[in-house]
Amino acid sequence: MPLVLVTGGAGYIGSHTLPALLEAGHEVVVLDNLCNASRESLRRVERLAERTLTFVEGDIRDRDLLDRLFREHAVSAVIHFAGLKAVGESVQQPLAYYENNVAGTLVLCQAMQAAGVTRLVFSSSATVYGDGHPMPLHEGLPTGQPTNPYVRSKLMVEEVLKDLAVSDSAWSIALLRYFNPVGAHESGEIGEDPQGIPNNLLPYVAQVAVGRRECLAVYGSDYPTPDGTGVRDYIHVMDLAEGHLCALNALAERQGVNTGNLGTGQGHSVLEVVEAFEQATGQAVPYRIEPRRPGDVAACWADASLAERELGWKARRSLADMMADTWRWQKQNPQGYL
Ligand code: NAD
Ligand code: WQD
Repeated sequence: MPLVLVTGGAGYIGSHTLPALLEAGHEVVVLDNLCNASRESLRRVERLAERTLTFVEGDIRDRDLLDRLFREHAVSAVIHFAGLKAVGESVQQPLAYYENNVAGTLVLCQAMQAAGVTRLVFSSSATVYGDGHPMPLHEGLPTGQPTNPYVRSKLMVEEVLKDLAVSDSAWSIALLRYFNPVGAHESGEIGEDPQGIPNNLLPYVAQVAVGRRECLAVYGSDYPTPDGTGVRDYIHVMDLAEGHLCALNALAERQGVNTGNLGTGQGHSVLEVVEAFEQATGQAVPYRIEPRRPGDVAACWADASLAERELGWKARRSLADMMADTWRWQKQNPQGYL
């Protein structure tokens, strides 16, 4: 089976995509600088898949390392997860985000081009749609006015990749716009392990449930939504992983850039998520209502029909599955990978 280079493969979404790739018979090389991940995640992936992978500890910005990697490994395609992803941090450290997410991707693509590797799956974000569109969001909509360097970096990379594909018809690129990935592998062996205080809802809920945090702050209950709290399209990370496999397979049959939403097509509010978590786990999640978080939109969910038509992929795991799998990981690993 062809060999796939997975940048950022030790991270949350990357580490959950690896078992799917290995179980499908792919050879895998992971490149990760471990700035937001643990080597342990890869050891556990190998145990789960009962197969080995090649791990290269390094940075996508290191052109010499990339050239050596492409010389030593017959890479057929790249899945590019590597990047910084914290919206708030990007406002404080814009240069780090542009250097890592944009310049890093430029170096990766230059090394790919030099090596004749022209199949790429890129991790983009539903936040590129911005605010103000009626729901559900579909790929034909114009992207919005980004409100922070993180989202701007994703938009910039999307534009770079579109220009690259226009310049050289050999390129086949999938831009995957993730909605809200949550959950963990059903084994509980791998999961989301945020450093410090979690920014995102689900890891925070799980840490309250396991006793690491006192109480969940619900940011805003005065949104124009059914119960006043924010609505998002939560998608199980294993559904997301399977979507990458479908996108990878589709690269072989197409040229140019294809954009796809990876969501369930259904929105759930913060209070619905809390309720679903308590139902699925029997664990109480105390919460208090706080003011809205700056930059949050009221509601965001996908029209996921294009990925179903074009990739033959559809999310199939329920909100209850997402909650139960999140809890199993958190319970079995109260302090994460350590
Ligand atoms: P993550 O931080 O868990 O994974 C990113 C990985 O990339 C980490 O292992 C990190 O060590 C590595 N990395 C970062 N910079 C690197 C560099 N310069 N060289 C090599 N490795 C580097 O994040 P994630 O949640 O798995 O997200 C993966 C991708 O998906 C990111 O590009 C993110 O922007 C995007 N995304 C994530 C979400 C989400 O909610 N998690 C939503 C939309 C898009
Ligand atoms: C979800 C809902 C909050 C935490 C972010 C990034 C986006 C992407 C996905 C990278 C919202 C509410 C949250 C909490 C809360 N990441 N909430 N209390 O903001 O939709 O998207 O992650 O690409 O770029 O912006 O996800 O999980 O932070 O918030 O009430 O402690 O939960 O207000 O309504 P978000 P989130």
